[in-house]
Amino acid sequence: MAKKKTRYVCQECGHEAPRWMGQCTGCGQWNTLVEEAQRSKVKARVAPRPTANDGQDRRPMALQDVPMTGEVRLHTGVGEFDRVMGNGIMQGSLNLIAGDPGIGKSTLMTELGRHLPQSSILYVTGEESLKQVKHRAQRLGVDSDTFFVFAETNVEAIVSSAQRMKPDLVVIDSIQTLYRPDIESAPGSVTQVRESAASLLSVTKDLNFPTFLVGHVTKKGTIAGPRVLEHMVDTVLYFEGDQHHAYRILRAVKNRFGAANEIGVFQMLESGLKEVSNPSEIFLSERSYGASGSTVVCSLEGSRPVLVEIQALVTSTSYGTPQRTATGFDYGRLQMLLAVLEKREGLGLSTHDVFVNVAGGMRLDEPAVDLGVIVAVASSFRDIPADTGTVLIGEVGLNGEVRTIGQLAPRLREAEKLGFERAIVPQRNLDQAPNLSSLEVKGVRRLADVLDLTL
Ligand code: TYD
Ligand code: MG
Repeated sequence: MAKKKTRYVCQECGHEAPRWMGQCTGCGQWNTLVEEAQRSKVKARVAPRPTANDGQDRRPMALQDVPMTGEVRLHTGVGEFDRVMGNGIMQGSLNLIAGDPGIGKSTLMTELGRHLPQSSILYVTGEESLKQVKHRAQRLGVDSDTFFVFAETNVEAIVSSAQRMKPDLVVIDSIQTLYRPDIESAPGSVTQVRESAASLLSVTKDLNFPTFLVGHVTKKGTIAGPRVLEHMVDTVLYFEGDQHHAYRILRAVKNRFGAANEIGVFQMLESGLKEVSNPSEIFLSERSYGASGSTVVCSLEGSRPVLVEIQALVTSTSYGTPQRTATGFDYGRLQMLLAVLEKREGLGLSTHDVFVNVAGGMRLDEPAVDLGVIVAVASSFRDIPADTGTVLIGEVGLNGEVRTIGQLAPRLREAEKLGFERAIVPQRNLDQAPNLSSLEVKGVRRLADVLDLTL
């Protein structure tokens, strides 16, 4: 028997090498090459993108002649879901939804059956048996004769049944279980994931139905498989949250048809996922009034302002190097803010442990929440509660200056709606503040002014 040839494929960029190397010559990253069996037949890697008029004309075209018809979106009626998708699910779109095991990906996808009872759905399950899928569907109240389940992992069989059935929507649960018989490597390998996705991309665009690919994540939290998968799809959604809490956040990190970073908030109940249309209320519902180390910030998530509580605990270090822990907030950014507090405001944090937590399982990465983090830390350090009726908005620079942020008006309106009395904002943003009857807006230039006003 002929010896099987192996090759090495980069998990990040898909670059191939004949032997193992520490560094990928394609993307320059280290330790990303994995061994894979040589595929037997070489086919076109990614199907060509259809043109605006469905492949009939492949010549360059004047922009004004490009037809704009046929932009149809499926509306699920679940506001939180539709908004994340960019006001409904675009026809002919390939969507990737990733998240930790057990977070609720299959639940979210099965519920589409309840929200779209008129649409024919092809649900391909590669992980669970038909019975398990039915069990979940019954629990979720999905009872539609247009919801078809298919326990199959061979991409060719899936593509041909989709071509026969011409469904309104396809769900693949999950992309890591699929394989193409013409490729030798195992399901879940870089090549199989990439080539399976390429086949699905081409049938999705040809038949113009939306497809959802459920994807696993690695320990580091990135989507398992090749990085090119994220480039191939139209939207990348992350379903996140703390499994011990009921709240789940669906976040569009990439969306070719809508705003990126848009979030939808859900609550996982016995009967399935329930949308939370006013997340600020939920995130503030367990606030600790009168305790030190708690502040409220306003983060812009996609197009929506969300008020969230920041909690900090500062205690003196009992031995060795001080500990710093950040949950829901960037660790490096916390280090930077602590250094600013120490150097500019003279807080002796180098002998203290600092723990920062974003309440409700949210993850914040907008610099506009800096001010809230800084005040929460200073409040806990001095053990003085910060004013509970104040919301803090602003980025903090290395010199202790409060820097301008984008989109102040929607943030202030949200704060007023939730009954806050005062907002502290960057001085140079003040001219963008709308006239609000019950919210006092105070501009600040330096960190010292903020601490004077709040503590
Ligand atoms: P699941 O959708 O299977 O997660 P994933 O596909 O991301 O791995 O959901 C798993 C968890 O959700 C499981 O622990 C049970 C829970 N769950 C509910 O709380 N309510 C429900 O209605 C359903 C279907 C699941
Ligand atoms: Mg699942």
